[in-house]
Amino acid sequence: MEQNIKDIPSLQSVYKDYFPIGAAINARTIDTEKNLLKKHFNSLTAENEMKPENLQPKEGVFTFDVADKMIGFAKQNNMRFRGHTLVWHNQTPEWMFANSDGSVASREKILARMENHISTVAGRYKGQIYSWDVVNEAIADEEKVFLRQSKWLELVGEDFIDKAFEYAHKVDPSAALFYNDYNESFPGKREKIYRLVKSLVEKGVPIHGVGLQAHWNIAEPSLDNIREAIERYASLGMQIQITEMDVSAFSWEDKRTDLVKPTAQIAELQAQRYEEFFKIFREYKEVITSVTFWGVSDSYTWLNDFPVRGRKNWPFVFDANQHAKDSFWKIVDFK
Ligand code: GLA
Repeated sequence: MEQNIKDIPSLQSVYKDYFPIGAAINARTIDTEKNLLKKHFNSLTAENEMKPENLQPKEGVFTFDVADKMIGFAKQNNMRFRGHTLVWHNQTPEWMFANSDGSVASREKILARMENHISTVAGRYKGQIYSWDVVNEAIADEEKVFLRQSKWLELVGEDFIDKAFEYAHKVDPSAALFYNDYNESFPGKREKIYRLVKSLVEKGVPIHGVGLQAHWNIAEPSLDNIREAIERYASLGMQIQITEMDVSAFSWEDKRTDLVKPTAQIAELQAQRYEEFFKIFREYKEVITSVTFWGVSDSYTWLNDFPVRGRKNWPFVFDANQHAKDSFWKIVDFK
């Protein structure tokens, strides 16, 4: 039977006493998923459109059109907006780190550019962004390495992180400022994130939250690891936001490419995982200040290209026809 969008509960209403429910959008899904967005989501974030290479492709040349449109759409529909992201090693233009002759720019010059980027972007949207991912993914994945090798680290030094938060706070003091990362629930990386955030707090750097990207799957991480991560970060006085949630149909080791739709077993497991994740989120509603999916429906997900290029994935609670899946019912039927 055709499912009518009007006949199902709205996620944002079901969660109104808990936290805003967010979705990452792009220039296409803001139109194709418009009705689903309006009904179920009260927070938006830009999948790519507010990253440094998109907002300032050339020095001093800012391109705000798409971001303005997204923030306008959010405003019209009483939705909040998460800013993503100000400082990152990826999707950041090379000119930030170079002189015009191609040589490496000085620390001072790079920091001045960082400050200019942050104050222009966060200044333009001042008061309209409730939380910013100020620094994204600065922790290394290698077990024995603390900070990720990047141009920021190499050319500015460890305090590039402090500076980013300071600049953002100066320009928009009411926005909650986040450190955001993936594999955030695995104990090894968790402890490094904890150590970084603790040192920032001790230095008086204006940081207010930790973003758990939550690129999870049907097998990992464990529920205990998720709880421990939330508690560990919250013990530093941080708010927690789930910033990029998707629940891949494949475990990390599963590199199969022959499925054209999720098997019944995958669908059931995914629904069960969603149920358990949201149960945890509700338990920690005092510290969790939003939960954002990294997309809207299974019609589009970055996981179609990662980690296996061209393999279809179905990570959300709405299917490719924008209909509620079992995963949806498992997160709304709890009362
Ligand atoms: C990371 C980034 C996001 C996005 C995803 C992949 O998690 O924070 O902006 O690029 O990777 O879509």
